[in-house]
Amino acid sequence: MAAGHQGPGAAGRRRLRHLQQAQGWFVAISVIGKEHFGTLDDGTKADIWTVSNGGITLKVLSYGGVVQTLDVPDRDGRTANVSLGFGDLGDYVTHSPYFGALIGRYGNRIAGGRFTLDGTAHQLPVNNGPNCLHGGDRGFDRRIWDVEPFTAGEDTGLALRRTSPDGEMGFPGTLEVEVVHTLTRGGAWRIDYTATTDRATVVNLTNHTYFNLAGEGSGSVHDHRVEIAAARYTPVDSDLIPTGRLAAVEGSPLDFRRPKAIGRDLRAAYRQIVLANGFDHNFVLDKGVTAEPEHVATVTDPASGRVLRIATTEPGVQFYTANFLDGSFAGTSGRVYRQGDAFCLETQHFPDSPNQPSFPSTVLRPGETYRTTTVHTFGTC
Ligand code: GLA
Repeated sequence: MAAGHQGPGAAGRRRLRHLQQAQGWFVAISVIGKEHFGTLDDGTKADIWTVSNGGITLKVLSYGGVVQTLDVPDRDGRTANVSLGFGDLGDYVTHSPYFGALIGRYGNRIAGGRFTLDGTAHQLPVNNGPNCLHGGDRGFDRRIWDVEPFTAGEDTGLALRRTSPDGEMGFPGTLEVEVVHTLTRGGAWRIDYTATTDRATVVNLTNHTYFNLAGEGSGSVHDHRVEIAAARYTPVDSDLIPTGRLAAVEGSPLDFRRPKAIGRDLRAAYRQIVLANGFDHNFVLDKGVTAEPEHVATVTDPASGRVLRIATTEPGVQFYTANFLDGSFAGTSGRVYRQGDAFCLETQHFPDSPNQPSFPSTVLRPGETYRTTTVHTFGTC
């Protein structure tokens, strides 16, 4: 593959590779570089960047900060891409349901696309029924990001940066955003988000990877077993806006406090499941907001043996079972994606927090730094 590495102190084409010996194992850490991925209608070019820690290989697009590929070994060491996506930029532009995307300025829905902050009303685009979803119709998932590769000790990764101008998609304040993907030697894929503003605003950033631990295009994830450390969730109305109540998962299909197959209650005649056409709910993580990432969820694919463990600083996670995939397009491997072919665990603050005073605050003020971290650790069983 073409290696057009650009990075600190690394002018021109170059390939970085460090062979590291740890506990008797050699681990190859590499920033493999970038390739041209496609060109937008306005002539803007989009790149695809590849980094690897010897176990996981991560490919990220400058378009939308999209995680396009996530190659992970199974229990026999066979690698598969566990992230749904496309091989073509045009597919991302015309019909991506946020595959792998960097979501901002506000993950999930804001009711009516409206909120009031310090007495000033703000109107955002309405792009999902009557509501604003994932930051509006041209959110962070549709912007070109500056990408800088790095190696730091035994880690390697990509830093994505962008300035979102004051008023973009109706949000107040110039927002300086940095999203850093790091692959660690321990098998983790870590995302650190930081942002600052010059006017009071609201921020809720996340990543929208659709996982299938058996490999994208391999069929449904109904057999995957999910565990989420949440005794409560935020029930929604028919537009998927939280009612404001925190409901107990106990005795309901939303109880994932012990590992449970996704398919077991997916078709339960339970009002919340019917409203969302499956699981599409924000879980109130028992640990709340934390300064350091804490473990919140585990997903296991019994067939491949792949295990995904998620730790986060965030107070919520949107568990979504790809209910809106309808078989109308094919993905990276050329196979059609259908409902239930993936799951998302979008770590976040709660949906519609700007209109819900009792939810943890998403307000960011000048002089403060928005800082959240989510760590995905892959293993096998
Ligand atoms: C989030 C939402 C879902 C859906 C997806 C994107 O997970 O909660 O309702 O909109 O994003 O398709």
